[in-house]
Amino acid sequence: MNRPTSPKAAGARSVDEITGGRRLRRMRKAAWSRRLVRENTLTVDDLIWPIFLTDGENVREPITAMPGVFRLSVDVAVREVEQAARLGIPAIATFPQVDGSRKDVTGSHILDPDNLINRATRALKAAVPEIGVITDAALDPFTSHGHDGILRDGVIVNDETVEQVAAASVLQAAAGSDIIAPSDMMDGRIGAIRDALDANGFQDVAIMSYATKFASAFYGPFRNAIGTQGLLKGDKSTYYIDHANSDEAVRETEQDILEGADMIMVKPGLPYLDIIRRLKDEFALPTFAYQVSGEYSMIKAASANGWIDGEKAMLESLLAFKRAGCDGILTYFAPEVARLLKG
Ligand code: PBG
Repeated sequence: MNRPTSPKAAGARSVDEITGGRRLRRMRKAAWSRRLVRENTLTVDDLIWPIFLTDGENVREPITAMPGVFRLSVDVAVREVEQAARLGIPAIATFPQVDGSRKDVTGSHILDPDNLINRATRALKAAVPEIGVITDAALDPFTSHGHDGILRDGVIVNDETVEQVAAASVLQAAAGSDIIAPSDMMDGRIGAIRDALDANGFQDVAIMSYATKFASAFYGPFRNAIGTQGLLKGDKSTYYIDHANSDEAVRETEQDILEGADMIMVKPGLPYLDIIRRLKDEFALPTFAYQVSGEYSMIKAASANGWIDGEKAMLESLLAFKRAGCDGILTYFAPEVARLLKG
């Protein structure tokens, strides 16, 4: 029987001959040297915590599709945001579950200075002035059909929606919002919001544009959280970006920057790291990712089943955003990860 010739005997090159003596593992051999050459880090400064608001008092209602996330009444939100500030989280973003009786086809309740968003902003800024408050000016929590725009004869009417979103932004700024983050993707909204804010003395209120928001299946649990799931007829593909597109994301973002966006955001997050890197390289603006509800719930569900180490997967996913070029991440993990980083 023929024994196979050993590669060495056959004249195969040694590893040093192959690599030219370059050994990439050299710097990986000890924890201290891995730390020394580590290119990216996740810190509490990177975190924006999205929270869900609901009416009532002393309410902390679990959200079925998002284990560990709750709908909070304003009083409870104030307490939890105080804790978040103590953990060092720089900013929060609020999303309201609006009572069904207040919804209509145009989402008119967004123009009530005393709606849930604005009441929460006032309470939060009074109690925890050191934390940044980001509010969304999109109509979907307020419309009876769950769309982000005014719906007429089956069509989302762009310009009327923009007028309403801009007016709502002024009310949100008046309530104390530090950053307006419109998630509706209507054409011209950033410029209209900037004009409206400036005209009303809110030059210092910033705009974080949901510059590239993709039509996505990953928003499912969020719609369960704010109660728009059963309402939505059709999908949002006439205003959100087709998730097959990357060049279009660049054009959308450039437009929002020209109109006055101070910061840009990519949403969802993890499936769109290529977009984040491209936008950061192209525009070098403060760039954020929204690790959306579906991304959060997938990690939680797999972890609950013992299929992955949830804590490690959480940290790995968040660090991936930093590596891709993000300055920060909107994530439901924010308090959990802040506690972990604090040790
Ligand atoms: C809508 C809006 C969405 C999210 C926040 N605001 C998407 C949608 O419901 O279509 C999703 C956030 C998440 O999934 O965590 N303006």
